[in-house]
Amino acid sequence: MASVKLTNVKKIYDNNVVAVHDFNLDIKDQEFVVFVGPSGCGKSTTLRMIAGLEDISDGTVEIDGEVVNDLQPKDRNIAMVFQNYALYPHMSVYDNIAFSLRLQKMPEDLIFNKVTNVAEILGITDYLMRKPRALSGGQRQRVAIGRAMVRDSKVFLMDEPLSNLDAKLRNQMRAEIILLRQKLNTTFIYVTHDQTEAMTLGDRIVIMKDGYIMQVGSPAEVFEKPENLFVAEFIGAPKMNIVPAELVNANGAYQVKLFGAAIPVDGDKGAELARARIPGRKVLLGVRPEHIVLSKEASASSIPVTLEVNEMMGSELHLHAFTDDGTRIIFRVPTIDLTASERAGLVNGAKLNVTFEGKVMHFFDPETEKNLLYSHEY
Ligand SMILES: Nc1ncnc2c1ncn2[C@@H]1O[C@H](COP(=O)(O)OP(=O)(O)OP(=O)(O)O)[C@@H](O)[C@H]1O
Ligand SMILES: [Mg+2]
Repeated sequence: MASVKLTNVKKIYDNNVVAVHDFNLDIKDQEFVVFVGPSGCGKSTTLRMIAGLEDISDGTVEIDGEVVNDLQPKDRNIAMVFQNYALYPHMSVYDNIAFSLRLQKMPEDLIFNKVTNVAEILGITDYLMRKPRALSGGQRQRVAIGRAMVRDSKVFLMDEPLSNLDAKLRNQMRAEIILLRQKLNTTFIYVTHDQTEAMTLGDRIVIMKDGYIMQVGSPAEVFEKPENLFVAEFIGAPKMNIVPAELVNANGAYQVKLFGAAIPVDGDKGAELARARIPGRKVLLGVRPEHIVLSKEASASSIPVTLEVNEMMGSELHLHAFTDDGTRIIFRVPTIDLTASERAGLVNGAKLNVTFEGKVMHFFDPETEKNLLYSHEY
């Protein structure tokens, strides 16, 4: 069992940099939580405070209900894997993994059982007698994870463990971490700046910016209900289109007016606006690239655009276009939806009509940048 609770946690470094402001988070036993955000937002600092590698300037960190602010890292029952997994180069893989157990003076037969068991889980049994230099990057990374795993920790902390692997290996290791997680009944806190990693690994994602939490939620929640502009643009690739628009409420039936078009806000989204009694107003409209569709012909709800770049991504096209007033938008079209002659027409300078899916639109206040429907204080 290991829950982790942070209450009003703050970090001020000696140079007066406030790296983390008033961080509050309750992590449940066996939960997989990912901290994600741009460089310098305080992810590693928060993780290091949980590990005990960094003093906590204010607030409390609890593990299983016990305040650990003044406990040494070794007494917190935590394992940590870093981006730069320094393995001992002169030791075999076996000895690298056994190292901490020998420090604990564990009997060799017990060490053998633990090391071989961990090696089996990680698929590195065949390399146990090799030196780290005779391994690939991904294999070394697995040894580093194995070194942390043998210690039977209650909490597993990982700080960008995959960031120095190439893209293919990273995808493979990501899948292995998901499998590992199913085999270990441990609480995971994982740091990354990669939103794909965050979305695929996390039960919950903590999105951070400048030392503040911007949103905490499941992958589906942060994608479908981004509470502010920052989260909306951070999650999803290519990123969400954000354009100024007028939200119009005609007796509870909503429309957005932009670029001369009037697009109905239908489905659940229209119902949610009505339930929240959102008045007609100026908004920043957010539309994901997959929620902009090509229309066959011009209509009251379509927007004329000029194609600028057509990127062939395989199963879909990424189309970059601009409206008559020069606003750039990007949208995705599945290649399977297009005939050969339609595809041939998607050249630079082509005049197209697009419309936005009303039921998956997002509305932000231009001043506060908060979502009109879902904002929340952390
Ligand atoms: N030892 C330190 N002394 C002073 N300031 C520091 C120290 N370590 C980090 N900082 C500052 O604290 C802020 C948060 O740093 P942190 O390393 O937690 O960011 P991060 O989110 O992990 O970023 P990255 O994705 O680049 O690893 C940054 O502004 C950083 O410059
Ligand atoms: Mg970091």
